[in-house]
Amino acid sequence: MEGIAVDFFWLQSLFTSFNILFFSFTLVFSTLSLLLFLYGRLLKPCCQCEVCQTYLSSSWSKEFNNLCDWYTHLLRESPTQTIRVHVLRNIITANPKNVEHIVKTNFKNYPKGKPFSAILGDLLGKGIFNVDGEDWKFQRKMASLALGSVSIRNYAFEIVTCEIRDRLVPLLSSLVSQGVQKGAVLDLQDVFRRFSFDTICKFSFGLDPRCLELSLPMSEFATAFDVASRLSAERALSPSALIWKIKRFLNLGTERVLKQAINLVNVLAEDVIKSKRKKGDLSTQKDLLAMFMQTIDDHNYLRDIVVSFLLAGRDTVASGLTSFFWLLANHPHVVSAIREESDKIMGPTSDDELATNEQMRKMQYLQAAIYESMRLFPPVQFDSRFSQTSDVLPDGTYVERGTRVTYHAYAMGRMEHTWGSDCLEFKPERWLKDGVFAPEDPIKYPVFHAGLRVCLGKEMALVEMKTVALSLIRKFEFQVASPDNWPRFTPGLTATLRGGLTVVVKRRN
Ligand code: HEM
Repeated sequence: MEGIAVDFFWLQSLFTSFNILFFSFTLVFSTLSLLLFLYGRLLKPCCQCEVCQTYLSSSWSKEFNNLCDWYTHLLRESPTQTIRVHVLRNIITANPKNVEHIVKTNFKNYPKGKPFSAILGDLLGKGIFNVDGEDWKFQRKMASLALGSVSIRNYAFEIVTCEIRDRLVPLLSSLVSQGVQKGAVLDLQDVFRRFSFDTICKFSFGLDPRCLELSLPMSEFATAFDVASRLSAERALSPSALIWKIKRFLNLGTERVLKQAINLVNVLAEDVIKSKRKKGDLSTQKDLLAMFMQTIDDHNYLRDIVVSFLLAGRDTVASGLTSFFWLLANHPHVVSAIREESDKIMGPTSDDELATNEQMRKMQYLQAAIYESMRLFPPVQFDSRFSQTSDVLPDGTYVERGTRVTYHAYAMGRMEHTWGSDCLEFKPERWLKDGVFAPEDPIKYPVFHAGLRVCLGKEMALVEMKTVALSLIRKFEFQVASPDNWPRFTPGLTATLRGGLTVVVKRRN
């Protein structure tokens, strides 16, 4: 009897503790929800304008496949090429004069800002993408020295050609031989993402994750990195930052998954840094991390730099290549023109050879085709800054202090005003003058950003994209499973096709 009484007492205290815990949790949650409600109601009164109502109800999706297509429609209709989404406290522009003002003329007033650093802070820390001021200046100087040097560029080209010759082409050839006459079906977006992860890891830290070996599972690092960047970007979709901050505080839902993914990225990045230290003499190692490690000792700072470079070079290149192949499937005459040009420069029989850096520079049509593809499908569709003080944009739009100002590269590539009445067509010729590639002002074409924070990896990215595209176009035929379907993108930091890009690959006759 005594034993049962003791057990009962024990059980009773357990229930009481559980009730107290449950009650406290409910109280905290209700208070936070109430605060959130008051914040939403009092500080951000629900705007009744058509744009805000369409945004909040997502009714734009009845007519448009993607949010970026709806914004493009609004920006094309706007006399100033600028719109406001009041509920997001966001001014969105496709007006080149405004872009110049934000990224160049009044650069100081438009830093990345605290809201942006808060959203990406857990993943990027103090990496170049997430900082302003002295931290940014220091990293920019170091990174421009590295990415501008001829030896580093040659090193990057060597990595890319090795990955194509030893992995990409053998992989596709083996899949094609298995598919015999029907060809092989594969997700080209997945292949490009694996390819660019391998190359950026080799380039940035001298490490080979071997993602392109399809027989191996996607590396833990790549998977954790994917989850972390996707969920970090999703934070920006919340109408209020308070929502994800509360979820993070309580370690709930996607915030819990994000925390786990970031922890894994941190562990793996630490491993990379430690093993590099063990390897010894950093001055003989060619990668970026080794270079940074000769000046920086702080472990966390090095980790942040590593992660930023991964973000910079991985998804952007894969995204650019994926859209390019989607466009090529709908424009076979562009494929023929690329083959013709390369035959003239490399000779028609050398299809096993990869173009040299020198030959690549001569391919003006290929360069034009890649630029044209990214005009219509920029890998980074929009980019935002936060105004430090109140301001007026060149088109007369008033910007209140603390407002988010976004330039929309995707919409800018579709403006009749800038590109003419054929702006929605894929025409590489528009970039050629007497057969020679003629670049456009980056302010009108901010695919690689513009002004003081212009992309530092532009040249490297272009060489990588051209080399990959050319090697595949010369060797294989690609048919996109559903070429006419307009691409649908998943929300994220870079444009990613929902469901990938399924293609049938055959060896070229
Ligand atoms: C097609 C490929 C690429 C595209 C479209 C692209 C585009 C961009 C854009 C839009 C920005 C501005 C981001 C912002 O300020 O919010 C940027 C910055 C940057 N990019 Fe790229 N990028 C590409 C490839 C690369 C590669 C391969 C690297 C390096 C290996 C790289 C390194 C950087 C760096 C370091 C910055 C930061 C510059 C700064 O803040 O001062 N990018 N890029």
